[in-house]
Amino acid sequence: MTILDIVGLRISFGESSRPAVAGINLKVGPGERVGIIGESGSGKSVTAMSVLRLNNERIMRYGENSKVLYRGDDLLSANEKTLRGIRGSEISMVFQDPMSVLNPVFKVGAQVLDVLRTHGAQSKTEAKAQVISSFGEVGIHDPERVFGQYPHELSGGMRQRVMIAMAIATGPNLLIADEATSALDVTVQAAVLNTLDRLAESREMSVLMITHDMGVVARFCDRVYVMRGGEVVESGDVEKVLTSPSHEYTRSLLAAVPRLPRD
Ligand SMILES: Nc1ncnc2c1ncn2[C@@H]1O[C@H](COP(=O)(O)OP(=O)(O)O)[C@@H](O)[C@H]1O
Ligand SMILES: [Mg+2]
Repeated sequence: MTILDIVGLRISFGESSRPAVAGINLKVGPGERVGIIGESGSGKSVTAMSVLRLNNERIMRYGENSKVLYRGDDLLSANEKTLRGIRGSEISMVFQDPMSVLNPVFKVGAQVLDVLRTHGAQSKTEAKAQVISSFGEVGIHDPERVFGQYPHELSGGMRQRVMIAMAIATGPNLLIADEATSALDVTVQAAVLNTLDRLAESREMSVLMITHDMGVVARFCDRVYVMRGGEVVESGDVEKVLTSPSHEYTRSLLAAVPRLPRD
């Protein structure tokens, strides 16, 4: 069964005649890693945010026939209670800037622990053990020490790992990563991608990877959607799209691929 099925998604801001997203279709299967690639402003983030209904609905609207189906249920017509049940526990999101998620005045361990405890009814001791273990799982080598540190005491890569630990703490079926590795230098980026790779595999988690970087798509994704100006101009298996792109725009993205170390 398809985990995520976006059907005819249309997103318009204000009275602008040109929609930010002009009726796109996109599917993510169980355990599948799907990429969305496109230049800045092509509609990747507003598409990603629509899945958790995180767009500011006072300034934008979804098209009448748009659907975002999560396991068959339309999230665009779901009520707040249903959405709360899905956010974080079924579908999680990680962003480019971990500081948009981490509170600078609290130790990171306590913050991840809070997320766990609002979603599950375990004791504090059990929750702490689980946080430590998830820190290990995301490649934090001294999880006990990091547990007691403040965000500013950690490197960018470490903060990114903490945010990923927070996102996967509740065992989501789908992880949406929006430019999650874009701000990291190239070796840290490769290490974080390896970690996501391992996590997706061991947890049989689907990943929707949003990036402007074809190197990330090549390294990580099974399938890719190429977006431009709010439209999907090309989609397919990564190998196929990379070796024989059918759209001129995809070819131009490919021409700019940086080299990523694989391990
Ligand atoms: N807050 C906003 N107000 C008005 N328009 C917006 C807003 N956010 C996004 N848009 C419109 O949606 C388009 C796509 O934005 P976005 O999804 O953030 O692009 P990206 O592909 O870089 O993630 C933008 O080019 C802009 O026209
Ligand atoms: Mg974006």
